[in-house]
Amino acid sequence: MIYKANDYSALIGLKGFSQELLENHFALYEGYVKNANKLLATMTSVFDEVKAAGSHVVELKNRLAFELNGVKLHEYYFDSMSKDAAGEPDRGNPFYQKVALDYGSYQNWKKHFRTVASMRGVGWAIAIYDAQSGLVINTWVDEHHLGHVAGTSPVFVMDLWEHAMLLDYGSDREKYMDAFFKAVDWTVIAERFEKALERQEVHGR
Ligand SMILES: [Fe+2]
Repeated sequence: MIYKANDYSALIGLKGFSQELLENHFALYEGYVKNANKLLATMTSVFDEVKAAGSHVVELKNRLAFELNGVKLHEYYFDSMSKDAAGEPDRGNPFYQKVALDYGSYQNWKKHFRTVASMRGVGWAIAIYDAQSGLVINTWVDEHHLGHVAGTSPVFVMDLWEHAMLLDYGSDREKYMDAFFKAVDWTVIAERFEKALERQEVHGR
């Protein structure tokens, strides 16, 4: 097994998220791990066969991007949630300070992010740090794999598939977003942002 599913059962009891919703969501995440592992194994074990089949390679690679990003994005998401979350980030938080600089204020960044997250369709709203421009950019990814920006670091990641909200909020994204912002541990976001700052983009000569 190449990827191993993380155990997120400690999140049961998280305010704003029912046990049923979380358990369903964890099971879905485990499905992505299972399917990503299956596809990664296929890539090596039947390489000649796949190569001969030509177009199947495209389908398999698309599927791999779907399943593998399904694993990684859920880990960014669940890893940033905590039962000890204290609401909004404090003013000393480096991510708070950075978005205040890039967007005029933290509240402006949040408003912009929530607008992106309100887009129709299923996917993810992701605030990435782009080392090349030095900016935090709010992005939208369709499903799990369409819309990623190469060479950037995801920092703040919100699941906007229906399964993330439907059981508790129906299709009321606003209420779900309120609950998610309250469930975020901003120290995790600060650590991610600081690690992203240390990373250099690898391209050019
Ligand atoms: Fe999800």
